[in-house]
Amino acid sequence: MLQGFKILTVTHKHTKLQDLGKYLFAENQGDELLGRLENLKQVMRLEELMYLATCNRVLYFFYVENTVDHKFILDFFRTVNPTIEEQDVFGSEMSAHSFYEGEAAIFHLFKVTASIDSMVVGEREILRQIREAYGQCQQWGLTDDNIRLAMDFAVRSAKNIYANTRIGEKPVSVVSLAMQKMLATELPDSPKILLVGAGQTNTLVAKFLKSYNYTNVLVFNRSIERSQKLVDTVEIGEAKSLSELPSHRGGFDCMIVCTAATEPVITNALYQQLIGQDNEQKILIDLSIPHNIAEEVVTRNNTQYIEIEGLRVLANENLAFRRQEVVKATELTQAEVKTFHPIYRQRMLERALQHIPKEIKAIKAHAMNEVFKKELDLLDDETKALLERMMLYMERRCIGIPMKAAKEAMLY
Ligand SMILES: NC(=O)c1ccc[n+]([C@@H]2O[C@H](COP(=O)([O-])OP(=O)(O)OC[C@H]3O[C@@H](n4cnc5c(N)ncnc54)[C@H](OP(=O)(O)O)[C@@H]3O)[C@@H](O)[C@H]2O)c1
Repeated sequence: MLQGFKILTVTHKHTKLQDLGKYLFAENQGDELLGRLENLKQVMRLEELMYLATCNRVLYFFYVENTVDHKFILDFFRTVNPTIEEQDVFGSEMSAHSFYEGEAAIFHLFKVTASIDSMVVGEREILRQIREAYGQCQQWGLTDDNIRLAMDFAVRSAKNIYANTRIGEKPVSVVSLAMQKMLATELPDSPKILLVGAGQTNTLVAKFLKSYNYTNVLVFNRSIERSQKLVDTVEIGEAKSLSELPSHRGGFDCMIVCTAATEPVITNALYQQLIGQDNEQKILIDLSIPHNIAEEVVTRNNTQYIEIEGLRVLANENLAFRRQEVVKATELTQAEVKTFHPIYRQRMLERALQHIPKEIKAIKAHAMNEVFKKELDLLDDETKALLERMMLYMERRCIGIPMKAAKEAMLY
């Protein structure tokens, strides 16, 4: 019954992330992407199509009654990317792609939506991404009733899994763990924060700081353009060049350092310039690998030090905890798939029977306006009105009969 549901997907599990680009559309938004998806739908004769591309997964969820075989899969990916080789798709030892059909496709969709299949288990970002992808494909008219029903159920199932398991508990990102540790220290109400480095990691840090209303932030970066970009995107603090750091005399309560430098950026000599006569304890957070705060800064000064190794150990422990919950989450997902069966069957039945009310109405109209027209014209108004009421009553009762019978039949 679920046989029409199919998924072709390529993920971090079976291919290198740098190769993922071969299996997705180079056009990633707007009319160009829509054109490519419409073409794929037409060429492969798909009834419905939904497309999801993230940094570690591309997923084609489609509805088609036809059998999907080796040739179909190759034609499919060649329509996506004409330069792709058969070897890329099927590999010599292991296929880059995975194919799921029927109940297995629904199970896979539910697992992806609930982030059980994610690189970082329990990361809710995928739920947002998949809802957005569906919303876009629906708006573009690429999907219809089958995918709508499966997606509604997938989202419901994911919420149930987050609520009834602990897969989303305990932070697994080093940045969120560092921020938790920072919040547990005794910082003043509006702490002065120095952010050294303005790459991806510190951009995330800045977003956290903003969410806690810590906006007294100076961002020092080697290139001022990048610190300015961070300040503008996150709408926080002030941008500075790293070369201005030695002359900073405004003091600070917390310094968060994260750059790709391979030598310490914060040497003890620089640190002494920054603190001057200030002997208050400072919170130092170093998220860089290798460390960017020289060891002697930590050992020779009044500091509370939060460093990346300890956070990584904690992140791995938390991830292991989430993975343990995967067993329970998978069982719950299987149960959700079983619940989806009768709901889908009922919907199919409704679709099969949806022409009945129209036909009954048409029979009534034909009887009254043509077959019995002459006899009806001879009746007085009161009798005519009574007859019409009776016909309407019959019409409504008749419409309910097949639906009721079908529902009863489904129970057996
Ligand atoms: N903890 C984790 O889980 C985690 C995750 C990701 C990264 N990291 C570590 O965090 C560090 C940065 O990662 P990222 O993803 O934020 O990197 P990124 O986005 O590539 O940014 C690199 C940053 O480092 C600066 N930088 C590079 N070389 C420098 C140098 N010699 N002196 C001063 N600044 C320099 C760059 O400045 P310009 O703009 O001037 O180039 C830029 O601000 C790395 O050590 C990485 O290993 C840790």
